[in-house]
Amino acid sequence: MTPEQPRATSNPGAGAPTLPEGALVQSLLKEGRTFPPASAFRERSWVGDRTPYEDAERDYAAFWARHAEAELSWFRAWDKALEWHLPWAKWFVGGQINVSYNCVDRHAASWRRTKAAIVWEGEPGDDRVLTYQDLHREVQRFANVLKELGVQKGDRVTLYLGMVPELAIAMLACARIGAPHSVVFGGFSSDALRDRILDQEAKVVVTQDGAWRRGTLVPLKRFADQAVEQCPSVEKVVVLRRAGDALHCEMAPGRDHWWHDLMERASAVCPAEPLDSEHPLYILYTSGTTGKPKGVLHTTGGYLIGVHLSTKWVFDLKDEDYFWCTADIGWVTGHSYIVYGPLSNGGTSVMYEGAPDWPDKDRFWAIVEKYGISVIYTSPTLLRSCMKWGTQYPARRDLSSLRLLGTVGEPINPEAWMWYHENIGHGRCPIVDTWWQTETGMILITPLPGATTTKPGSATEPFPGVGAEVVDEQGRPVPANTGGYLVLTRPWPAMLRTFWGDPERYVETYWTRFPGRYFTGDGARCDEDGYFWITGRVDDVVNVAGHRLSNIEIESALVAHPAVAEAAAIGRSDAMKGQAISAFVVLKIGNEPSEQLREDLRDWVADKISPIARPDDVFFSADLPKTRSAKIMRRLLRDVAEGRVLGDTTTLTDPAVVEEIKQRYVAEGKEED
Ligand code: WT7
Repeated sequence: MTPEQPRATSNPGAGAPTLPEGALVQSLLKEGRTFPPASAFRERSWVGDRTPYEDAERDYAAFWARHAEAELSWFRAWDKALEWHLPWAKWFVGGQINVSYNCVDRHAASWRRTKAAIVWEGEPGDDRVLTYQDLHREVQRFANVLKELGVQKGDRVTLYLGMVPELAIAMLACARIGAPHSVVFGGFSSDALRDRILDQEAKVVVTQDGAWRRGTLVPLKRFADQAVEQCPSVEKVVVLRRAGDALHCEMAPGRDHWWHDLMERASAVCPAEPLDSEHPLYILYTSGTTGKPKGVLHTTGGYLIGVHLSTKWVFDLKDEDYFWCTADIGWVTGHSYIVYGPLSNGGTSVMYEGAPDWPDKDRFWAIVEKYGISVIYTSPTLLRSCMKWGTQYPARRDLSSLRLLGTVGEPINPEAWMWYHENIGHGRCPIVDTWWQTETGMILITPLPGATTTKPGSATEPFPGVGAEVVDEQGRPVPANTGGYLVLTRPWPAMLRTFWGDPERYVETYWTRFPGRYFTGDGARCDEDGYFWITGRVDDVVNVAGHRLSNIEIESALVAHPAVAEAAAIGRSDAMKGQAISAFVVLKIGNEPSEQLREDLRDWVADKISPIARPDDVFFSADLPKTRSAKIMRRLLRDVAEGRVLGDTTTLTDPAVVEEIKQRYVAEGKEED
């Protein structure tokens, strides 16, 4: 996000990732409880036995093709289900389809016309329901607005909005005309937004005046203005009115237009364009092991069947369900399981605008009660916060409508799993712990709630048709209960196709380390039943509260500060957020460590990247531990930050440095944090 990577420390993929040690692995190793599906649940679920697993094992491409044909509406049948020239995949080659048509039109033309497609709750307590017919009308109108603004098939549109229904409408409108969208999380700074717009050369940006967050308005349009000024590709900016009179909003004549003005003039008829199955659907940026975010590219037909079938089977989605995925649409979870998966199935998707503790710590459970949510999908971090807040909050709401619970984003510790099971599910609801990534597009390792016996803390088994394995440094499968690297052994339809504008980096990042297999960047072990226990990232990626950041991204932001000479950022274990960020900073001559500077640096990073990236602690140091090839030894810093005995320091240029850092660290009273 900060423009240049300042040091030559990174050679992505080259440094051997290290397997994480520590508390999580220990607690996962001890877990022995099992929860078989209840027969009442099994009998009514889409998948109640092993048939789809066996089916898919016979021929995975044929398995996906069979479901793609049965579940989706195609304009033209494909000639070939899969073309796989490792690592380049094409699914449903020659087929034509439109995602917007599948998510909207076909339901608007059925009995579901009057069914709620999106149920939205604003943070201040206002709410809206859009039926499939409403959605059909709004999506067509916005598609016409985009065309009116000069957007053509293939042009990129950046969506920088909060959690409002218009974000889903805009995504579906883009999909309708074949203009790949790129949603940028509303919590990202203007610098981060600028870098993404520049990378994709977007023609139009859609934003809003202000977004509600904990009772205050985040001025998205103001941030967008700062970004767009530096982005010559942007011709038009569409501004949704959400804050209204509460926030003044400057409009640039000729460039900026109000959403409602444009929509008022737009026709509500815009047929969905038949698109090639491999036509780009969206770009979503995610952090890798370098300072520059990667534009993960997802395409049309394969992505849609992946998210469609996983929504249907993992969440056992039925027409009567109120399905609520609590993620922000700015992350892949929201793309796949708020918008595309649920709507493709004709489901009712619940969307909430604000914070979980606003106005009080029972807000999520109040929403469950208000709508009678039946399936909820949330993160371990949220659950651990709820554990800390206390059971009185869920206890004061009626949660009897819930029938299935899901989690995603980071490993869930068995304690949080059991808390979810008892205090939210009241012992009645299966839990699906779903492992996947921005890159995978869809859930890949997960229970199917009617068919899989669950174990607290395990994501269990690969989805039908998916191949996963745990291997050692040399790529050899490891024996049961041995830690290793999680790899995927077959292509799957929702897989990323490449990085936008950087195919070499795609090959290098995923397909080089273990030839023939996709490297996930995660560590895992398989137990004697073949269950997967994911232990977390093994590369230079930090996962804070389920949000992904790269160490180098944070370091780049730090060294862009005038007082900083060098910096190292690491993720250390944190009981609440999974990981917290510790930054080690070497100051330029003439700068002195101070409490003020420490705070300035934390704010600086929050401002450069996002509040999510704000370091939890900053330590000043005279030097950083490096290998002879000048690579920062983050593993060592992690050991220091987590108070472990120092590991092997023989490759250090100056081993004394670490000792010095460690002493400082302890002296500065980290333990009390
Ligand atoms: C990374 C992907 C895909 C949804 C949100 C995150 C971690 C994700 C689990 C899980 C253990 C998990 C992994 C993965 N992760 N789900 N159920 N158990 N770890 O998407 O930002 O692309 O991050 O999140 O480390 O690689 P993302």
